[in-house]
Formats: sequence, C-alpha cells, structure tokens
Amino acid sequence: MPLRAKILIAVLSLLVAPALLAAQDKPLASTPPMGWNSWNKFGCNVSEDLVRQMADAMVKSGMKDAGYQYIVIDDCWQVDRDPSGNIVPDPKSFPSGIKALADYVHSRGLKFGIYSDAGSMTCAKRPGSLGHEYQDALKYAAWDVDYLKYDWCNTSTQDAQAAYALIRNALNATGRPIVLSICEWGTAKPWLWGKTVGGNLWRTTGDIRDQWESKDKHHLGMLDILDLQDGIESYAGPGHWNDPDMLEVGNGGMTTEEYRAHFSLWSILAAPLIAGNDLRDMKPEIHDILTNKEVIAVNQDPLGSEGRRVLKDGDLEVWVKQMQDGSRAVVLLNRAVTEKEMGFSWETLGYPSHVTASVRDLWRSRDLGQFKQKFSATVSPHSAVMLKVAP
Ligand code: GLA
Repeated sequence: MPLRAKILIAVLSLLVAPALLAAQDKPLASTPPMGWNSWNKFGCNVSEDLVRQMADAMVKSGMKDAGYQYIVIDDCWQVDRDPSGNIVPDPKSFPSGIKALADYVHSRGLKFGIYSDAGSMTCAKRPGSLGHEYQDALKYAAWDVDYLKYDWCNTSTQDAQAAYALIRNALNATGRPIVLSICEWGTAKPWLWGKTVGGNLWRTTGDIRDQWESKDKHHLGMLDILDLQDGIESYAGPGHWNDPDMLEVGNGGMTTEEYRAHFSLWSILAAPLIAGNDLRDMKPEIHDILTNKEVIAVNQDPLGSEGRRVLKDGDLEVWVKQMQDGSRAVVLLNRAVTEKEMGFSWETLGYPSHVTASVRDLWRSRDLGQFKQKFSATVSPHSAVMLKVAP
C-alpha cells in the first residue's frame, strides 16, 4: 500500500475511533426508554405482521420523530423449546423468524425488544427462561435484540434479585448492549436493588388497567398506580428508572382529558413512555397527546430527576420535576369531578418567593407571562394542567 494511503487510513481511524467509542460508551437508557409494546392492546394476539405494521406506523405517525424508539413484542411470541433447548418462536404467527423481524424493525430506524420470564413459564404459560438464561441471551443477541422485558410469573421460590442479576450477566456475556426491563411488579421492592443488578427500568406495581381509578382494590387504575410512586422517586436516575407500567393512552377506557393527565403524570415521573395502543389507527387527539414535544422534553430531561408530589389537598395535587436548566415542570392534577381553582407558591417548587418566573402552559404551547411568589389556574374535572416555571 502506498505511504500516502497508509497515512490517510491512520488519520481516518484516529478520527473515527473516538466517535465509535463514544457510541459504545453511551449508557443504556440514559433517559427513560420510549417505545411501543404489544401487551396492553393486543395481549396474546401478536404476529410478525402486526409488529411490522406497528414499526411502519411509528415512523409514519411521527412518533419516531417525537423520540419513540423501541418496538417490543410482549408475551406469546414463543411456543416451545427444541431438543437442544433453544426457544422456538410460534411458526404460525412468526413464520419468518425473529431475526428477520428485528432486521425489519432496524431497517425502519427503530430498536427491537422481546419478552421472557424468569420462571419456568411466562404469565401466558409459554416457556420461561429458567435454566436457559445464557442460552436465551445468546439467542437474543444473535437475533439483534435491543431490549428485554423479563417477567416474574411461575417463579416459585426463586429470589428476585438473584434471578435478575443472572439474566443481566447472561445478557452482558453476549457483548451486545441490551436494555433490561425488570417486570417483578414491585413485590420485592426492585427500586432497592434494580440498579445494582443492572436493571434499566423496573415495574413498581402490578398491571395497569385502562381506567382513571379502580373501583375495586384488586385492580390498579392509572391513579392507583400514581399513588404507589409516592416516596420512591429518589431511586430513579439516568440508566435506571421506576416503571409505573405502560401507557394506556388511546385504548378507550378513559376520556381524552384523562389520557392527557395520564401522559402528563408519566412524563413528570420520568417514567418509561411505552405506548400500548394501536398506532395504525390513532384519533388525532390521541396522536397529539403521545407526540407533544414539550411534554416529552420534560420526561426526557437529561438530569433524569423523577417528579414528586409536593402538595396534596384532597383531590388536588401538585407534582414537580426539577429540570437540568434549573426550571421546574409542574403538573396540577384535579382528581375531582368538578372544576377547581388550583395554586402553588414558588416555595413549593424550591424557589425563593421574591423571584420572578415565567410560566408556560405546555399543552397549550402558550407563555402565560411573568409571575412572582405564586401561580394559580383553573383545572377541569379529571384533568391536569402542565406547566414549565422558569426563573
Ligand atoms: C404480566 C406483566 C404484563 C404482561 C403480561 C404478559 O402480567 O406484568 O405487563 O407482560 O404478564 O403475560
């Protein structure tokens, strides 16, 4: 090779190597993961056609541009193990195989996620990963999987912390960066150990139901889940998030105002934003909720601070999230069935009261002006107002 070519290659590799390293070094889930998961809307009715269509819809609808990245197949893609113990995808619903599907999702500029379970069987009684952790992890890596949701059904006397550490070690051993979504429903308080075992997000509760608030104590509506987040905020941060379960926005069980409140609250909680609706067929108002850039920017703020409830007065609540630029995101939540006037002081936000701050309404994309000491707004029934307060 001529000397000049050698020099050129040397210079190029000096330029490219740091960029490659930086890309590899970027920590997984440095902001809350955003994506779509099949479970809330489709349950066990999953297929490669559905997943491809959802990847297409994520791009076409503008959700990808809004920041959604992962397309995750939940339970029921798997049917069996072959004589060597390899996991076998359902040949009827996934005839082209999982690798081809992952390739398709990647070709749309998205990332691909899959689901398994730490026990002998998944919650829908498909084969679990117990005893096959390294074998399954290798398979996922060979399929170019980017995200694993790992459930907790049929785990008998297994220890949660050990089981999640085992699958994380197995994933790491493949050399492929794979987000680990711990789905243990909060039973063994995963916020206390999820980060230590290398989990990137952990469910804090049982499954969400597509309703504002549950009428019976055995099920969790959106607000029941919200209440269970109170007090665990400080366990979340870049790379490791509390997960109050996937979004129900657009699935039909709540009003548009209620869905807007749901999305506001999940955003201020720095929760993973995993859409659970049919992206092929979204009403404009649902699309506008899921893709609101200013609200998503609150969720994706690089500081990674989880919002917390700073005020509760019966049905009225104020939630606040500290932003990297020193401003605060605020949600005024009215859980009542009547319209309410709601206010908060600068002190509740951690600001001295003499400070002048601008207030912006994020859903209306409107600057409301400069205020001192406090701010108040009228909040519709079962609804939320979302603000940014910047001194
Ligand atoms: C559990 C999980 C859900 C879903 C189902 C699948 O209930 O919590 O999110 O993954 O299993 O069977």
